[in-house]
Amino acid sequence: MLAYEIRNHNQTSALALVERDNPRLGPGQVAIEVKAVSLNYRDLMVLDGLYPDMPSPIIPLSDGVGVVTAVGDGVTRVKPGDRVAGLFDQNWLSGIPPAQTRSLGGESDGVLAQQILLHQDGVVQVPRHLTDEEAATLPCAAVTAWNALMAQGELRPGETVLIQGTGGVSLFALQFSQLAGAQAIVISGSDEKLELARRLGANQVLNYKQTPNWDEAILTLTENKGVDHVIEIGGPATLPRSVNAIRKGGQINLIGLATGMTATLGIPPILVKQIRMQGIYVGSRLVFEQMNSAIELHKLRPVVDRVFSFDDAIESYEYMRKGDHSGKICISL
Ligand SMILES: NC(=O)c1ccc[n+]([C@@H]2O[C@H](COP(=O)([O-])OP(=O)(O)OC[C@H]3O[C@@H](n4cnc5c(N)ncnc54)[C@H](OP(=O)(O)O)[C@@H]3O)[C@@H](O)[C@H]2O)c1
Repeated sequence: MLAYEIRNHNQTSALALVERDNPRLGPGQVAIEVKAVSLNYRDLMVLDGLYPDMPSPIIPLSDGVGVVTAVGDGVTRVKPGDRVAGLFDQNWLSGIPPAQTRSLGGESDGVLAQQILLHQDGVVQVPRHLTDEEAATLPCAAVTAWNALMAQGELRPGETVLIQGTGGVSLFALQFSQLAGAQAIVISGSDEKLELARRLGANQVLNYKQTPNWDEAILTLTENKGVDHVIEIGGPATLPRSVNAIRKGGQINLIGLATGMTATLGIPPILVKQIRMQGIYVGSRLVFEQMNSAIELHKLRPVVDRVFSFDDAIESYEYMRKGDHSGKICISL
């Protein structure tokens, strides 16, 4: 079967199409014919060698959906013909993250292949109304947004969410805010992307390039109260402004590293405002399944920016690196 491999972690050109032996089915395992996969910002970090504890070579990408073709002894959770997605972290079923994480396309082989084998515990059924490409967007970006707002944040109707950016995580956060009856303020560096955010239901939008003091603008918009939740995507360049824009007792969900890995931050406002700084690392299988129930009930459809063919996988990485997309980038097999 055909698969892509990353062999050298230091160069973007190191992604190559290779012939691999078909994986052999063992007890408790599920064979899956992959139908569609999606990219996350993290996959660029993996390609660039910035992801910790990566074996080499490795099949990249965490997010994919496919059809079960065979099951090993003792498999009860799924059957041939079921449409499933893999968990981002194959070891995390519920509760807090496990001591040993095993992420697809990170610590273990991922999904950019015609066939994959996963343990039955590491898969979930996907919402029936979604196309394969739409369903392939869920395991990382959607679960991260759901975990932040719903599982950790307990978002309530009428609350206000500040969402940074219009990429994969951000547009799911916008859609989930709407589902919860909350208001969304979206910031982006592009007016065109903000127009899309408006069409998707954002209540207020701000261009962070044209309004660099967007935290002050948000305080004005919220009559100096501040927002209840922040989807923190930028990292070092945005975190101090998020601290300014959040209300007392609000929750900042630390998710993204889009502007770097190390932040310098004044501590006093965090104490005085009793801000909850919540680190988010995707989410468990339980969170994934709860989210899928809501997506199916509300017939929510993920925003797919562009679909590439399997042959054009390398081009899809280049497209992601340019950063012109909104929502998700997919590859169809
Ligand atoms: N902690 C976790 O579990 C987890 C899970 C998934 C993703 N992430 C992280 O979350 C981030 C987004 O991931 P993704 O897959 O959604 O990426 P993506 O689709 O490539 O989107 C990247 C986003 O970053 C935004 N951005 C860049 N600089 C910004 C700034 N200065 N202020 C505000 N927004 C800024 C961009 O906004 P515009 O283009 O609209 O300007 C864009 O929407 C990445 O850093 C990724 O590593 C973390």
